[in-house]
Amino acid sequence: MKAYRAAILRFADDHSALYEEDGLLVVGPDAQGRQVVRAVGAYSALAGNYPGVAVEHLPGRIIAPGFIDLHIHFPQTDVIGSPAEGLLPWLENYTFPHESRFVDGDYSAGVAKVFLDELLRNGVTTALAFATSHPQSVNALFTESQARGMRMITGKVLQDRHSPDGVRDLTEQSLIDTEQLIQRWHGVDRLGYAITPRFAPSCTEAQLRGAGELAARYPKVWIQSHVAENLEEVRWARELFPQARSYLSVYDDFGLMRERAIYAHCIHFDDEDRALMRATGTAAAVSPTSNLFLGSGFFDYEGADRVGFKYGLASDVGGGTSFCPFHTMLAAYYVAREGQTKPGLSLSPEQLWWQHTAGAAQALGLEGTAGNLQPGCEADFVVLNPNCTPLLARKSSHARNLDELLFGMIVLGDDRLVERTVISQGPPSRMAP
Ligand code: GUN
Ligand code: ZN
Repeated sequence: MKAYRAAILRFADDHSALYEEDGLLVVGPDAQGRQVVRAVGAYSALAGNYPGVAVEHLPGRIIAPGFIDLHIHFPQTDVIGSPAEGLLPWLENYTFPHESRFVDGDYSAGVAKVFLDELLRNGVTTALAFATSHPQSVNALFTESQARGMRMITGKVLQDRHSPDGVRDLTEQSLIDTEQLIQRWHGVDRLGYAITPRFAPSCTEAQLRGAGELAARYPKVWIQSHVAENLEEVRWARELFPQARSYLSVYDDFGLMRERAIYAHCIHFDDEDRALMRATGTAAAVSPTSNLFLGSGFFDYEGADRVGFKYGLASDVGGGTSFCPFHTMLAAYYVAREGQTKPGLSLSPEQLWWQHTAGAAQALGLEGTAGNLQPGCEADFVVLNPNCTPLLARKSSHARNLDELLFGMIVLGDDRLVERTVISQGPPSRMAP
């Protein structure tokens, strides 16, 4: 066992933040040998209970749950910042040509290393990630994640039509490859598989049907895709699937909406779509930097909460512009303020932080396992230094309450704020210099 003394942020079941100014986090193996939080609370209350356990004292630091990125594309690490008129030209001109390079396993492994280093440098300890249509890219990301002991979910992209040579796959083979990858990787260490139709316009009905059959056969496997991101895309999907009630309902028609299904964007929805999300237990990956960069639109927070479906925050790199959770939370704040049809909301810093940690875990069906520091949770966490820059140090010293402290970090924070990222298994991934 090992203990850490610092300020500690975690979340209660009602989503509110719990904060110990002088806290103790005790980490040790559970009955299965996983490194989990064994105890957490005030240092004064807990310290006497763990004689002989080494305590690392981190004065002035804040320990918080590792962030969860609910939607990111590892092969788009080098696509960030490619401007286009909108989603479809961006895919055609930048993304598909770049993703075709991942046919090469060595190239995939090289990018997977950079991608995971970048996640960890930014305090992201779990992600639901797209690979490419090449099984080699999936093997590369799982292999590198396993070497780091990370909790990582990914899958081979399915796209058997409206996709250029180099990324387009073959219907039957794509489904065989998917099942083989599920059997090889799902549930190994902390790795999970996600059945990954790119989006309905890039998949034939036969491919979607096959994906739905796999989703029924493997109910613990995740499903990930994109939906209702861009108005052109919505129009195209409606043309291709005229019998469906809406773009979203195409996925339901093929058995691709259920618990552990996560759809990126979910912008151009009506209330029937929202009710379908809720009824099926499907979650949205809200991707504000991507939506602002590609001019896609704004996630409707009021609509989501009124109808009551699950959502969490995501970078959507490389449509998204940053791996940094602070940047994503700030963009979500702007979207809630200015991008709503009803008068703007003011999301609290606690709500934003929850959406990128415990809320994202809930969307994945991993509440109590990831994204929090309550007893029993896997011990993936960040050590934040709120004095890491002169301006943030001033801001933090003036904070009169938790909201002000968290807001300062969301608005002024970047990778310098993340002094260390600790992964539950294995050694710390990044020590302070
Ligand atoms: N829709 C289909 N593919 C993609 C992708 O790679 N990125 C985004 N943002 N939307 C998509
Ligand atoms: Zn995406």
